[in-house]
Amino acid sequence: MTKPINTQRRTLIAAGAAALAGAVPLRVFATDPVRVGLIIPMSGPFASTGKQIEAAVKAYQKKNGDTVAGRKIEVLLKDDGGVSPEVTKRLAQELVSRDKVQVLAGFGLTPLALAAAPVATQAKTPMIVMAAATSIIPQRSPFIVRTGFTLAQVTAPIADWAVKTKIKSAITFVSDYGPGYDAEKVFIKRFTEGGGKVVDSLRVPLRNPDYAPFLQRVKDAKPEALFVFVPSGEGAAVLKQFNERGLAAAGIRLICTGDVLDDDLMPSIGQAAAGVISSHHYSAAHPSAENKAYVNAFSKDNANMRPNFHSVGAYDGMHLLYEALKKTGGDPAGEKLVEAMKGMAWTSVRGPVSIDSSTRDIVQNVYIRKVEMKADGAYNVEFDQVEKFKDPGV
Ligand code: PHB
Repeated sequence: MTKPINTQRRTLIAAGAAALAGAVPLRVFATDPVRVGLIIPMSGPFASTGKQIEAAVKAYQKKNGDTVAGRKIEVLLKDDGGVSPEVTKRLAQELVSRDKVQVLAGFGLTPLALAAAPVATQAKTPMIVMAAATSIIPQRSPFIVRTGFTLAQVTAPIADWAVKTKIKSAITFVSDYGPGYDAEKVFIKRFTEGGGKVVDSLRVPLRNPDYAPFLQRVKDAKPEALFVFVPSGEGAAVLKQFNERGLAAAGIRLICTGDVLDDDLMPSIGQAAAGVISSHHYSAAHPSAENKAYVNAFSKDNANMRPNFHSVGAYDGMHLLYEALKKTGGDPAGEKLVEAMKGMAWTSVRGPVSIDSSTRDIVQNVYIRKVEMKADGAYNVEFDQVEKFKDPGV
């Protein structure tokens, strides 16, 4: 028997209201797409990170298709502006509860990843951290898996290199927030243990930094080396002022993590970086067939853009998701998917990588590089490496 029309309408309205209030879970069918909420800074001071990640996600899907284990992978991109943890958290909540994403991904900076972590835990949603690099991040939720790197992981090798090179005194110069503290701590520990002396430790503001007074202090103290970490996007300004203020001319040697010599910025940094030694997990000049193909494909689809380390964190994040879905037969259920990700190993464009099953963090080679001028600009050319290096922690 058909119900009277207004009863029917009332039922529909009630169901709609309940769904809007989040009370009735929408049924998700096995053939429905797997939705990925990609939260990245597409605007603001760290927009280059978002653009690199977006380009890499597109490159991955172009190469590997947008369907895996019978399920379409739908990426919902949200711009969090890169500076407000509250905004990132709200976007994560909306993606999970309103847009029904089964996976969260992206996260350009540490405070933003930390803000979203409780959302992942509460919703039991895997959260692939592609960029943010403070060691503690995966400890904040059992649903976090990291495909980028950690500052401790890339700092230890340059500190060891400085010891090996018989540099005796250094000043540390880091951005005043999580990854900067990790870099500072690890550099001081390794360099001091190796017999070096850290004569001063400077923390520079993350937002609207004026590096001049800090660099003047370094010039006056005249250490043999200045160790620098600033997040991607900031390095060009530091290098320019380092040279303009006469620190190089005064015989102070700049050493840094590869964040400072980010491939996105290298074309504009150019000659100013010639000869600078750094350590990092990715260089666009990494000499492997996989990387050459990646750089070519990326540059072809993104005019005037070179892939940087954040792009590789994102490309591998997509790879991890696809391979984990293959293992679960297309089931994106949180615990199952994270379990499938643990211990996964593959050949990345950066070299061999794996996900440590107990920490859910990436294990990878860290390379020592020197800036060299090539026909099409300045590149970080790898000349030494620490193999399959785990995050040493802080
Ligand atoms: C971070 O905020 O964790 C971060 C961002 C950019 C970097 C490194 C670390 O280059």
